[in-house]
Amino acid sequence: MRIAVARETDALEPRVAATPETVKKFKALGADVAVARGAGLGSGILDADFEAAGAELGGDDVATTADLVLKVRRPTADELASYKKGSMVVAIMDPYGNEAALKQMADAGLVGFAMELMPRITRAQSMDVLSSQANLAGYRAVIDAAEEYGRALPMMMTAAGTVPAAKVFVMGVGVAGLQAIATARRLGAIVTATDVRPATKEQVESLGAKFLAVEDEEFKNAQTAGGYAKPMSAEYQAKQAALTAEHIKKQDIVITTALIPGRPAPKLISAEMVASMRPGSVIVDLAVERGGNVEGAKAGEVVTVGPAKIVGHLNVAGRLAASASALYAKNLYTFIETMIDKKDKTLAINWDDEIIKGTLLTRDGAIVNPNFMPKPAA
Ligand code: NAI
Repeated sequence: MRIAVARETDALEPRVAATPETVKKFKALGADVAVARGAGLGSGILDADFEAAGAELGGDDVATTADLVLKVRRPTADELASYKKGSMVVAIMDPYGNEAALKQMADAGLVGFAMELMPRITRAQSMDVLSSQANLAGYRAVIDAAEEYGRALPMMMTAAGTVPAAKVFVMGVGVAGLQAIATARRLGAIVTATDVRPATKEQVESLGAKFLAVEDEEFKNAQTAGGYAKPMSAEYQAKQAALTAEHIKKQDIVITTALIPGRPAPKLISAEMVASMRPGSVIVDLAVERGGNVEGAKAGEVVTVGPAKIVGHLNVAGRLAASASALYAKNLYTFIETMIDKKDKTLAINWDDEIIKGTLLTRDGAIVNPNFMPKPAA
């Protein structure tokens, strides 16, 4: 079995899909590994490090002869053209709304797996790229906020006077939000947080933050069986907005992370709420790539809107590329290990396994994932 580690071609992508550590592990499973020259540079990994781990180095055409291509982002049409028909590619495929690109992948005859569709079951926790990357993004959001904020986060009592602790409000308490709360607390901020899923209340409190939410009947049922949030009714959103509007006026830093799988991010902060904040406030919108939680947020920019700066960095996990790559590479390895027969050292995929079924997008020239299959004409 031959594995290729591609160099990411998107200028916004410093991450890489393998590390010397995972290369060694793949070699131990009997695979040959070829890495495109320069693939690790954005994450601080030299070609020589990959070579020392047993990889061959190749050009940007490493995928040509591979049975399995490891990527961070979905391959572009140009990249697909160089892949071997019938080969597998595993990446963060960003499938929602990108059905045309999925069709290209199917037409190229590839077996494509989307890591972000990994079922959230205990066995697959170590393969969960949404978690590994969101955790880093939540941490980085606080660091980015602190950088833009013109004051200190912790309370400081000095001979020259007291600096008050910053008030940080985290909206959306999934993986990123929990890490943001923990990070802001470590930096000494006074932290409050909100979510629509009841399970988050205890989690917020266990991190030493205060929970704030509209806790009505709808709230009690807002979590899906898969652990995600449901889209909330207009009525709930109005109540939530009223609560948020009052609270936000008194906050120094707001970090929003709210997402609903396959849908645009819910709008949680209106232009009026931004305008009501104190001068020098900072808002970090981690949902900006999915439409944003904050009115006025601009993807890829830090904008000043009235009294507040709104931070809309793209690929926030990529802003910690070395850590993000290490975790992502490990997620990929743990997933792919399940596809390899340890005795024969060959690919032996169990197509009925729920982690395979959940993540598989394309096979035998077609989109096979029920969530992305073309709709029959009415
Ligand atoms: P996510 O990235 O989809 O969303 C972030 C947060 O936004 C969620 O907590 C969601 O409830 C919240 N949200 C959505 N709409 C909102 C609104 N209108 N107002 C306020 N908040 C809103 O979520 P993430 O981080 O992927 O986590 C989802 C769940 O999955 C969590 O319960 C997490 O603990 C669980 N999980 C389970 C894993 C496993 O068992 N393998 C692995 C990772 C996470």
